[in-house]
Amino acid sequence: MQYRHAPAANHAALDAVLASAPGRPTLPVRLTVELAGRARVHLPADAPLTVWDPCCGAGATLTVLGLLVPGLARLVGTDADPGPLDLARRNLALLDPGGLTARAADLEALAARHDKPSYAEAATAVRTLVPASAPAWSVTPADARDTAAVRSALAGAGPYGTGPDLVLADLPHGRRTTWAAAADDDEDPGVEFLRAVATALRPDAVVVAVGRGRTVPLPGGARPLERVRVGHRAAVLVRAGALQEG
Ligand SMILES: C[S@@+](CC[C@H](N)C(=O)[O-])C[C@H]1O[C@@H](n2cnc3c(N)ncnc32)[C@H](O)[C@@H]1O
Repeated sequence: MQYRHAPAANHAALDAVLASAPGRPTLPVRLTVELAGRARVHLPADAPLTVWDPCCGAGATLTVLGLLVPGLARLVGTDADPGPLDLARRNLALLDPGGLTARAADLEALAARHDKPSYAEAATAVRTLVPASAPAWSVTPADARDTAAVRSALAGAGPYGTGPDLVLADLPHGRRTTWAAAADDDEDPGVEFLRAVATALRPDAVVVAVGRGRTVPLPGGARPLERVRVGHRAAVLVRAGALQEG
């Protein structure tokens, strides 16, 4: 894949400021921004976007979007596992007014207390960041396959409550993060997940799903907008309506 929307950049400041949940690897920053840029091509130009990460974990993906992508009105994070959601709240609070300044001050206090220059360097890096968006955000535990829980988490999302415009999900994979709840034996758990996610969306919403391996399977007959491969990851961009019909 050629990067069209995310120039190569040094993201050390983000690495310094984002908290990650142990054992839950996050999407690379550049790939996150690129996928959002590709999805945006399929959405109305200049409309403020509501983004939903239905596998939000520690909220790194959503926070990266808020820090680096302009025009985001609201970020909604849900995850079947409530464990990492406090970290997600901590990361997303960086987008609140004064959030980055407060984190830089915390890092400076740690540098002084532990006499660790690495904290001071991180604080300096954090002070260079200016969030590209100032979205409202919320984080709620919800299994994406639990329609009632998802609808309640998404209540009021989007302009006039029309729901998310864009879904960006780094799917659970392999040894380190796994699907919550046993999947239907006859169906790929990712396909089951995408079908469930689509039931909460307008047909014109765009879903971006990232997996490991050669491809991200879609429900039978669903035509993607675009497929991309990056290293050991594959991603698919697809309209919610295609998932609903597939
Ligand atoms: C690869 S991690 C996502 C990391 C996240 N994007 C971040 O920024 O930290 C996959 C996540 O999917 C969650 N998950 C697994 N099954 C799920 C389900 N049925 N519904 C919602 N989330 C699920 C896991 O708990 C895990 O946090």
